[in-house]
Amino acid sequence: MTQEKSLRVAVVGAGHIGRTHALVYQRHPRVDLVAIADIIPEKAEALAKEVGAQAFASVDALLAANLRLDAASVATKGEENGGEHYAPTMALLRAGIAVLGEKPISNRLEEGREMVAYAENRHIPYAINLNHRFTPAAYRAKEWVEQGRLGTLHMLNMRMWINNPVESSPWFHLRALHPHSIDVLRYFGGEIARVAAFMVKGANRTIWSNTQVLLQFQSGAIGHLVGSYDAGASYGLEQLEVVGSAGRFVLEDACEALTYYPRRSIEVESYRYLGGMRSFGETFDSRIGTFVDQLLAGTPYDAIDGSGLDALKAQEVIEAAIRSWETGSVVTLNEPDSAKEAHHD
Ligand SMILES: NC(=O)c1ccc[n+]([C@@H]2O[C@H](COP(=O)([O-])OP(=O)(O)OC[C@H]3O[C@@H](n4cnc5c(N)ncnc54)[C@H](O)[C@@H]3O)[C@@H](O)[C@H]2O)c1
Repeated sequence: MTQEKSLRVAVVGAGHIGRTHALVYQRHPRVDLVAIADIIPEKAEALAKEVGAQAFASVDALLAANLRLDAASVATKGEENGGEHYAPTMALLRAGIAVLGEKPISNRLEEGREMVAYAENRHIPYAINLNHRFTPAAYRAKEWVEQGRLGTLHMLNMRMWINNPVESSPWFHLRALHPHSIDVLRYFGGEIARVAAFMVKGANRTIWSNTQVLLQFQSGAIGHLVGSYDAGASYGLEQLEVVGSAGRFVLEDACEALTYYPRRSIEVESYRYLGGMRSFGETFDSRIGTFVDQLLAGTPYDAIDGSGLDALKAQEVIEAAIRSWETGSVVTLNEPDSAKEAHHD
């Protein structure tokens, strides 16, 4: 009997989220979690002991051990939750190792661009943990869109808010939280062409902790993002409404409820459970599991789901929103299809 191939994997960054990645890998039947690295050696050692892996005090030491790694998660953090990802990610990519990074891809666009370009040039799979859309409810809603059940998409409206009192930088809320919401919007609506943002600082806050961002998609569809770090302790943190010419759906809390409303009938279709998942925490298993499955299946670097490129494009939209608010103008990322057609008239 031939044995099924397994992936040899490491986790870099042994904090809360690195541990979450490690536990997902540990229980995956086709992953050998061989190493944990953290620049705080005690953290690497404690997690390595918990999951039965080797501990390293740096990525360089990990690479020097020549463990024949196939892939690594990078769950470092840093400024705006993304300032530390670049160095370990580049070291792993240079060694030819596939990377699943945490979001934001980086808080600095140039670094995001460089990591994506490097992985692309070397044809190395590079993905980001954009876990909010790796859910049975999002997959079902996506099928509805692809099968034409909504008709032509007109509007995509997203709300994402949590309580986060951190005041570390003016743009922390935008850069750290909204890679998720913009990615979900792009997943259903395609490329975003134009962005106009308004923001307000929460009571007693120094950062732009509330935002409303108007969006025009390349397809011509329109939408908005409502985001906050000053709201929502529990249920109702996230809601996406996609409205088309034939009907609309509402997807709540990533995986918890999905409802289809036909435009011309009252036959509403509603799901509280679509199998496989009940709450947000379980999105790590499905997202990381998809990365593992795609690597095991030999998926080419440019067909990896939730890619570095997807995360980079989300970050470009976030930076456009910041620019829009700073300059009081509409920022164009690329021209909507209708504008291109108009030029040809
Ligand atoms: N996808 C999600 O749903 C989700 C949810 C929460 C947080 N996150 C993201 O997860 C990431 C990690 O968050 P956290 O709360 O676990 O952070 P954390 O600060 O608890 O852990 C980060 C760890 O990385 C280590 N580290 C830093 N630089 C390193 C390097 N060069 N090499 C090795 N180790 C290094 C630190 O010592 C620390 O132990 C952040 O980017 C955050 O945005 C994602």
